[in-house]
Amino acid sequence: MVYLTRKEHFCASHRLYNPKFSEKENLEIYGKCAYANGHGHNYEIEVTVAGKPDSDTGMILDLKKLSDIIEVEVLDKVDHKHLNFDVDFLKGVIPTAENLAIVFWKILSPKIPAGTLYSIKVYETPTNFAEYRGA
Ligand code: NI
Repeated sequence: MVYLTRKEHFCASHRLYNPKFSEKENLEIYGKCAYANGHGHNYEIEVTVAGKPDSDTGMILDLKKLSDIIEVEVLDKVDHKHLNFDVDFLKGVIPTAENLAIVFWKILSPKIPAGTLYSIKVYETPTNFAEYRGA
C-alpha cells in the first residue's frame, strides 16, 4: 500500500466555546480561544489517500484532481470564513482541529475517485494538529 498526500492551506477565524458551559467554564477549558469575538488561524490540511499505484500510470490518483476536490468541497467553503457562523456543515460543531478533521473526513471520504481516504490532518498551528483516520 502506498500513501499519497496532498497538503492545502486556508485561513479562517473561530471561537472555541460551548454554550452549555458558563463563561467562566469556557475560559477555563479553552483559555484565550474562548474570547468573545474569535481569532484567526492559518490552517493546513493534509489529505492522505491509500492505494496501489496503477501499473500503467504509476499513480494512485492524480494529485491535481485530489487538490481540485479538496478545493471545491472544503476550501472554498471555509477559507476566509468564520467557522462558527459562516459554514453550513459546521453549524453546531465546536470548531476544534479534532472536529474539523472529522467533518472534513465525512465530506471528502465519498469523493475520493481512486484509492481510499486514509487520514485527514488539520494543523491549527505548525505545532498543534489533529489527525482522523475514520474511526
Ligand atoms: Ni484557535
